[in-house]
Order: sequence, then C-alpha cells, then structure tokens
Amino acid sequence: MNALATRPAPHAALDIEAVRAEFPILGTTMQGQPLVYLDSGASAQKPRLVIDTLTEVYSAGYANIHRGVYELSQVASARHDEARRKLQRFIGAADWREIVFTRNATEAINLVAQCFTAPLLGPGDEILVTEMEHHANIVPWQMVAEPRGARVVAAPVTDAGELDLDAFEGLIGERTRMIAVAWISNVLGTVNPVAELVAMARRHGVPILIDAAQAVQHTSVDVAALDADFLAFSGHKMYGPSGVGVLWGKAAHLDAMPPYQGGGDMIERVSFQGTTWNETPFKFEAGTPDIAGIIALGAAVDFIEGLGIEAIAAHEAALLAYATRALQQVPGLRLIGTARDKASVLAFELAGAHPQDIGMLLDLDGIAIRTGHHCAMPLHERLGMSASARASIGVYNNEADIDALVRSLGRVAEMFQ
Ligand code: ALA
Repeated sequence: MNALATRPAPHAALDIEAVRAEFPILGTTMQGQPLVYLDSGASAQKPRLVIDTLTEVYSAGYANIHRGVYELSQVASARHDEARRKLQRFIGAADWREIVFTRNATEAINLVAQCFTAPLLGPGDEILVTEMEHHANIVPWQMVAEPRGARVVAAPVTDAGELDLDAFEGLIGERTRMIAVAWISNVLGTVNPVAELVAMARRHGVPILIDAAQAVQHTSVDVAALDADFLAFSGHKMYGPSGVGVLWGKAAHLDAMPPYQGGGDMIERVSFQGTTWNETPFKFEAGTPDIAGIIALGAAVDFIEGLGIEAIAAHEAALLAYATRALQQVPGLRLIGTARDKASVLAFELAGAHPQDIGMLLDLDGIAIRTGHHCAMPLHERLGMSASARASIGVYNNEADIDALVRSLGRVAEMFQ
C-alpha cells in the first residue's frame, strides 16, 4: 500500500521530498539533465498510486463492467462504481448520479453544450463566456450557437488579467441562455470569484457552467455549496490518467437532458421500433468506458486527499509567491497575469526572445514549460500578443525547480538582449 494513501494527518505541511519520491518520472533525465517539470497546467505527472492502480487493474482485476455475471466482472464493476463515489465525495456532490464520466473536461463541456444548451437557443440568443477562456470553453458554445443564429459573447478581462465583474454582469441580458466560466485561467492563473459569478447567474435566472479543469487539483471544490448548474474537469490534470474526465451536473438537469451518444450501457431497451434510455448518469456513458482509467482516477482522488487539498494549496501558493519574486529578477521578463487572486500559473514574455525559442533552450537544460497560445488564442489577442511562455506548478514542484528555471531564463535573456 502506498504510504501517502494512508498518511494520517492530511492537513499537515507537505514533505515535498516525500511527495516527489512518489513520482517516478521526476527521477528521469531529459537532454542529459534532471527533469524539471513545469507544465502541469497542460497535464500533471502521475504518482505511484495511480500508476500501480492501472497496472494492478490490468494485471489482476480487469473485465468489462455492468455486463458480466462472473466474479472478475463483478469486481471490476464494483471498483468502477466505487470510483464514482470517490469523485462524488471529492467535489461534494449530493448524489453519485450527478457524476458523469467523460473523456475529459472538453467532452464534458461539449456534452452540456449539445444536450442542455442547444435546445434552449434561438436566433439572437447569447452564451456568455469570458475573454480568458481556453478553447474548450469557447468552441463547443460556438458550435451550438452558430447554426441557431445565436452568438457567444465574451466578458472583458482587465490588463492585470482579472475579470471585470461589472462588465460581466452588464452582459447578462434577456437573451443570455447560458454562462460558462473558468474557475482558474490556464494562462493568467487568475482565480475567478466563482461564488459571486454563480450568484449573478442566479439573480438573472441563467444557468452557469464552471470549467474547473485548472481548479480541482489546486483548490477545494464543494459543488453543493457552490450551487452552479454544471462543473467540468479532467482526470489527467489532477494526477490521474489521461482519457478520463468528469461532468458534474444537477440531477434535475441531467434527468431532463437527452443522451449525447448512443451505444452500450446507455440504453434501457433497444428495438427497431424504438429505444429507451438508461438512467442518469449511465445514459451519458455510451460504450465501454476507460474502466482502468476511472478506477485509477479514484486512486488520484485518494492521492490528493491523502495529502490534503489545503496542504497542496498552501504549498503551491508559497511556491507561486517565490517564483513570482524570482522571475521578476530575470532581465527583460514580464509576467502576464498579475491578478490579486492567482494560482499555480506563471505566463511570461522575455524581451527579444520568441516563446518557442525560450521553450527549446529551456529544454536543453531539462526544463519543460509550455510555449505558444496555450489553447487560448482570443486571450492572447486581447493581450496584444500571439504567444507566450508558461510555467505551471504542481504539488511536486519545489524551490529548486524554480531556481533552475530562473538560472536557465537568465542565460536565455543574455543571448537575446
Ligand atoms: N488547456 C491545457 C493547457 O493549458 C491543455 O495547457
């Protein structure tokens, strides 16, 4: 059994060296240098608990679920269903039926756009998002809006990268049918005041989806208290496997929504005269799911809960403050996104250096960051740039990682200035 999974005092300060030891990939080298992984915003690395769970399911516990009377299938089904209850507890959902397994946050948002929002839309209607959304929280809405003569409206962000709350509320009007907002921006790191945004949506009687893809691994989530209509997130950014994500939705909404895709497990009865649907959430889970991935996502929840999300948040906040100070010492470096409430992301530009070159030069030192538009082209356009460099922090990062980043950027700065 993994030591971290049984750690008795979940909210004690983290022993980061012990945490790092749980991530085998951190012992590898890249370009002959020890790996410094600062791209958790794109995808997080996996702890032993998750890796071992995947191996163990495939080695000793794998069969298709909800279809077999034999013991192996029953065991796999039970573990899959247990994972759903872990996710329910993790985000504070009132009912396990409110947890729909998807491939990722993107698919969860597409599901809501197609099954919930599309039927509400007519010519002239609006879906309100913000300028800081990543493409997954823009394009699915455009895909349902455009064919119906509706449009996607973006609430502005300030130069510091904060949401202009007055402008946001001013854009909620008679024609607003849906609101969709990131909890934490994947470029700016801005933590949006989601409780306030949900209250605004309620005042205007408009349903709201929270994109928590950058949030669940950094901050405590309680959907029952938040009282939004939908919340989407990915497993791979919360130390789980890629290919698994979650849509949380209020049971009343999910019950009223038609299914998204047809196939096995989502049906009650099939005939050529007509087919009836299974219950929520199964009617949204057509086909054999990523069984081992879902069970391993449950292990990712165990991992996070074993450390304590408050302890993770405290560690990451301290490291963000350290990194913010240290990066400002690099000549010519300008941070992008200086919101008062910020988490785990440091986007920047370096005078004279193209972000792509920065990324490639850092790679020579074994440092992995993301460069480009970070799936947020409209935000870069708003900020008057086509690309940026971005370091993003996970629970396993430490001050030595930041020192390595700053040293390497200092060398890049010298080359280009
Ligand atoms: N949206 C992911 C990122 O920020 C892929 O890198």
